Amino acid sequence: MAHCFKNLQMIGLTGCWVMLFLSCAAPKNSGALHEAGTSKSTKGLKDYYKNYFAIGGAVSPMALHTEEAGLILQQFNSLTAENAMKMGLVHPGEEVYNWSGADSIATFAKQNNLKLRGHNLCRHNQTPTWLFKDATGKQVSKEVLLKRLKDHITTVVSRYKGTIFAWDVVNEAISDKKDEYLRHSEWFNICGEEYIAKAFEYAHEADPNALLFYNDYNEIDPIKRDKIYKLVKGLKDAGVPIHGVGLQAHWAINEPNKEALVNMLEQFALPGLKVQITELDISVYPKEHNARGARQVDTDTLLTNEKEQLQIEKYKMCFKVFRKYRKMISGVTFWNIPDRSSWLDNFPVRNRKDYPLLFDKKLNPKKAYWEVINF
Ligand code: XIL
Repeated sequence: MAHCFKNLQMIGLTGCWVMLFLSCAAPKNSGALHEAGTSKSTKGLKDYYKNYFAIGGAVSPMALHTEEAGLILQQFNSLTAENAMKMGLVHPGEEVYNWSGADSIATFAKQNNLKLRGHNLCRHNQTPTWLFKDATGKQVSKEVLLKRLKDHITTVVSRYKGTIFAWDVVNEAISDKKDEYLRHSEWFNICGEEYIAKAFEYAHEADPNALLFYNDYNEIDPIKRDKIYKLVKGLKDAGVPIHGVGLQAHWAINEPNKEALVNMLEQFALPGLKVQITELDISVYPKEHNARGARQVDTDTLLTNEKEQLQIEKYKMCFKVFRKYRKMISGVTFWNIPDRSSWLDNFPVRNRKDYPLLFDKKLNPKKAYWEVINF
């Protein structure tokens, strides 16, 4: 308020109420709004949100050799490897590790002083087939599979010790079927529920300083949300070294509404439990959960004003809520950086262009961007 009264003194009493209104009602980051149409701001999302949470993006090693690198450095202070650290890429054969992509992202993060989230150590998808079979092609025993899991986790987590501050240790272990708790993956079929706690123990042994997360999607759905809660709370209560829950946030123009988002965050507001939004995107198509082929209607892939307006509103609402819950949210990571290419170009509908992010194909901030930083 002090600066408002200074203005009053400077301009005298005539017109002082107008000045008072203008100088006090202007949103804190409104300066940046004016830069939208004119020159480029040197500030980025990370700066506007410096008192709130880290702002991350999921990247490929390739992207770091393009002009996207500059955009990342201007806007973000945290990275996640979109695919390069997943088991299938890093550990394609029992004795074969492929570090090139993962290392290049880790080096970029280190050189540029960016936080790095590790994604991920154990998942049902993008997992190499050798893992579950012996030399004769028979399914391995629980003992063998847990030993392989331990070897994998120990090797990967040790390699990035001190560089990766948080790991998604187990990803998507919960079933989407309403009456099934855990996903009946090969991990579950061979080891039962125990593989989950074991994965956290192995990761903690390899790097006792890394923050360990359980990460999942459809967290907005009350049934799935309850299952995520049950798993995370159960692990914590059992003394398993788990520090947080990663809420993926693959959302869309029609989901979530504010009430669902608030309910979800309230449920995870547990003492000692960190919460990160780990894979945020807002599709310009209504939410669909299952992969499918393209239909006739899917050929209409223009980003219309109507779709964009809905996306702007959704981004605005989500970040308003995130800011309100800043004490419990320590990071918000976008799943990809510009609309140039994202995983949603092929999911849930193969070959349907989507525009889920805050930067357009030319890497310019979209209208939604200015709403996100206008507070
Ligand atoms: C996706 C990647 O973005 C795609 O490039 C890849 O083809 C499939 O996986 N939940 C996750 C991420 O935890 O690892 C997934 O990433 C998206 C959904």
